[in-house]
Amino acid sequence: MDPIINPFSPGAGSPPPELVGREDILTSANVLIKRLERGFPVQSVILTGLRGVGKTVLLGEVRRMAAQTKVIPIHIEATEERSLSALLVAPLKKTLFELDRQRGAKEKVKRSLMALRNFIGTVKVEMGDFGLEIEPQHGIADSGDLAFDLGELLATVAEAAQEKQQGVLLILDEIQYLGEKDLDALIMAMHRMQQDSLPMALFAAGLPFLPGLTGNVKSYAERLIHFQTVGALSAEDSAKAIREPFAEAKVELTDEAAACIHAKTQGYPYFLQAWGYQLWNAVDASPIFAEAVEAVTPKVLQRLDESFFRVRMERMTNAEKEFVFAMAEVPGPTPKVSEIAARLHINMSSLGPRRSALIKKGMIYSPSHGTLAFSVPLFGDYLNRHRAQRLTS
Ligand SMILES: Nc1ncnc2c1ncn2[C@@H]1O[C@H](COP(=O)(O)OP(=O)(O)OP(=O)(O)O)[C@@H](O)[C@H]1O
Ligand SMILES: [Mg+2]
Repeated sequence: MDPIINPFSPGAGSPPPELVGREDILTSANVLIKRLERGFPVQSVILTGLRGVGKTVLLGEVRRMAAQTKVIPIHIEATEERSLSALLVAPLKKTLFELDRQRGAKEKVKRSLMALRNFIGTVKVEMGDFGLEIEPQHGIADSGDLAFDLGELLATVAEAAQEKQQGVLLILDEIQYLGEKDLDALIMAMHRMQQDSLPMALFAAGLPFLPGLTGNVKSYAERLIHFQTVGALSAEDSAKAIREPFAEAKVELTDEAAACIHAKTQGYPYFLQAWGYQLWNAVDASPIFAEAVEAVTPKVLQRLDESFFRVRMERMTNAEKEFVFAMAEVPGPTPKVSEIAARLHINMSSLGPRRSALIKKGMIYSPSHGTLAFSVPLFGDYLNRHRAQRLTS
């Protein structure tokens, strides 16, 4: 079929032709946004799931939903390098400037701009010219204690929005990259919003394991935040994700073909897009049989190896690669650390640094004490396909 109009979209954050199986998450997001718009208290949300399950796509959808209401979406993506403060300053400034341009009361907006200016000075974020003359007035968001200052700054932003009968939704992707202090400050700030009935909430997404979520932060986050899991799609939803785009072009898939795709992708959205994409380019008749799915599989795997999987490998040191190859060798989805150590012929404590580095990079996580799992689905299969080349890669 014509590759120019191929609707499938294997890519980071690129919206699929058919967003299936996420009705529950979208329905509760809609309630959250509408409540925020009306000034009711809401509980913040963190979506967690493996690489390529569709978290970023969902955040994009939530952002679009918010943009149609009086809730202002502030969309940011955490990275390993930048602090939360550095990420927030520019979008907060933009939001406040927008509120400032609107008619009506401005007292709260001015106060928030001042808090932002103080905050920039206190956390030493590079901001260039602030672009607005404000008389300095100390005492808000400049104590030097991040958790306190961030809470105060965000509260002034929420009050500024409230003054204009608006709300603010912080949309934060890759939240697993936030350090403990940043995560703590953010969760405390959202707690304050709920307590003071201020119209701001967090809608975030990240890997199943948030390294910053430890000790105290963990215990109150579990009470304050609604964690929702984003997983692989069911056989029925996987079939729908592939069938609907073909149906638009009047092409059908046999049940066997749909089942074959589900078996190969295990329902992971990124892989569904990858198979759908190659299948579209390869076929020219309806219906599509399982043989056609088998026929495109080597090409799909080759593409996946070159993109989705290889970028992960490139971020690892040789010692870390040895670790993940040994991990893939252990049968079962959640290998024990002791078995990995045994395969590498070293003791468990010497594995510690590599294990932590891989967790920090978001490659693996620990689903339960003493076990590990890949945060990239089907990564074990990829490593086993490439075991022979491991010393040359
Ligand atoms: N519900 C869905 N149905 C079908 N395809 C989907 C669905 N959700 C996402 N996809 C597709 O899956 C791919 C991955 O989506 P996305 O980038 O949002 O995943 P992610 O969870 O953010 O991954 P990462 O953790 O690597 O950032 C995209 O190609 C997208 O089009
Ligand atoms: Mg993403």
